[in-house]
Amino acid sequence: MRAAIITSSDSGYAGEREDKSGPLIREILEGAGYEVVYAVLLPDDREMLADEMRQIADDHMAELLVTTGGTGFSPRDCMPEATMDVTERAVPGIPEAMRSYSMTITPRAMLSRGAAGIRKQTLIVNLPGSPKAVKESLEYILPALWHGLEILTGEATNCGDKSQKG
Ligand code: MTE
Repeated sequence: MRAAIITSSDSGYAGEREDKSGPLIREILEGAGYEVVYAVLLPDDREMLADEMRQIADDHMAELLVTTGGTGFSPRDCMPEATMDVTERAVPGIPEAMRSYSMTITPRAMLSRGAAGIRKQTLIVNLPGSPKAVKESLEYILPALWHGLEILTGEATNCGDKSQKG
């Protein structure tokens, strides 16, 4: 499976802060067998984020698009809104699962507004911004994601396959 990564951060885009979460996502995904084909750092701008997501999905660049940052309460946080602007089908179970698991680690997990959804043959998943939250959330959802992507791309047609890859 191919994966793309979008980091949303005004300070990162301005060169004032190093993006640690994007590279961490790459490391985790590659360790799980994904080919990371694209990674980009953008400001917290709804239109720019939506345009990038639209292009990745419409050009069939990746089956999985993982985003980090912009899911909180800061006035500029708009990743869930950009995601919902471009997705055709919502996948609420993924952010529900991340929040549910993360609540066992910190009650602040309820503050992430992250969403997930499908556009064409690309699954878009919002992760929170901190490397700690990225690691906790991504490692928790990965085992189930691969199967979802196989169904999405038509590589699997039923759920009887016991494959747990990812
Ligand atoms: N989820 C996990 N697993 N671990 C965390 O430390 N931090 C939370 C939450 N989700 C956290 C987490 C906090 S403090 C915030 S404010 C929200 O994610 C939103 O993060 P973001 O604004 O960086 O996207």
